Amino acid sequence: MATPSQITNPLLVGVAIRSQIEIDGKIPVDIPLEKEFAEGSDYTVTDHVNQLHAGTCKNPRTLQIVTSIVNHLHSVIRETKPSNEEWEEAIDFVTKAGKESQGKLNIIFLLGAVLGMNTLINDINHPKPPGCTSATESGPFYIDDVPEYPSGSSIIKADTKGERMFFFGTVKNTKGEGIRGVKVDVWQADGDGVYDVQYHEGTNDRGRIVAEATGDFCYRGVLPTAYHVPTLSVVKDLLATLGRHPNRSTHLHFTIVAPGYESLTTQIYPSHSPFLGTDAAFATKPSLVSDVVEVTDPRKWVEMGFKEGEVTNGRVWLWKYDFVLPTTAEVEALKKL
Ligand SMILES: [Fe+2]
Repeated sequence: MATPSQITNPLLVGVAIRSQIEIDGKIPVDIPLEKEFAEGSDYTVTDHVNQLHAGTCKNPRTLQIVTSIVNHLHSVIRETKPSNEEWEEAIDFVTKAGKESQGKLNIIFLLGAVLGMNTLINDINHPKPPGCTSATESGPFYIDDVPEYPSGSSIIKADTKGERMFFFGTVKNTKGEGIRGVKVDVWQADGDGVYDVQYHEGTNDRGRIVAEATGDFCYRGVLPTAYHVPTLSVVKDLLATLGRHPNRSTHLHFTIVAPGYESLTTQIYPSHSPFLGTDAAFATKPSLVSDVVEVTDPRKWVEMGFKEGEVTNGRVWLWKYDFVLPTTAEVEALKKL
């Protein structure tokens, strides 16, 4: 056990420790070394690490999380018995992931996505009563500062790439009633699988739609296509090693907000999309997949609000989806279970 007299004794501790103590005045917490810890014995290094943290960590939640991480990581090492070379490879991988993270490109977040952890966090934090729409992660392309449009508006510029799409959504509660006061943030890739922020040419393919009092909303846009997650990183190598592709299924993003209800951030997918079962971010679920139908009658295009000449491929894609939101009270009741 370190005593104050030991810690300030130049015979026992070096100048760096003494100067550190002079600055903050704190004597480091020490515990006695009473047991020989050894792998295969009844007191391993795992036990000693946890005993130390139990004696030093003041925050019980932090202690719980770190102890769990230590236990699981030590278990991984015991189970897989990495060689020194493999361990160095693992350290190198994590180091590269850190170095390759810059600006909005966060490789650690991306690793969480491609290993299913972001989906798991979402599922745990957003329990839903039966029949409610599942939440998914918002992804890296959400922008809060977007134009607000009345339902029925167009969210695209005239030269936006992609075939024209008309989206119609309903927002209901668990009793099947339309919800009042709904606002829906929508954002998506274009027909080339590219987001506006990737073009750096201003806001497009996104907006905040003010729904009708019935909870219904609609807008005109383009049919998005599938794209891939950033691949200039260790994530690409990891996916390749695992025999996986980096592609996301085709999707639309939504964040739906209504007073008295739990906000919903989700993505929905057309049934014609590839990669539904192998989505790189594990964000697809059968309940979020729906059919998108071709509308070839020009009179219907006019009813949807498309101007003459705007539809150039002889069809508009009609995509409908029904969203169901729980009340905040319903969610609180679930969390207490
Ligand atoms: Fe996306």
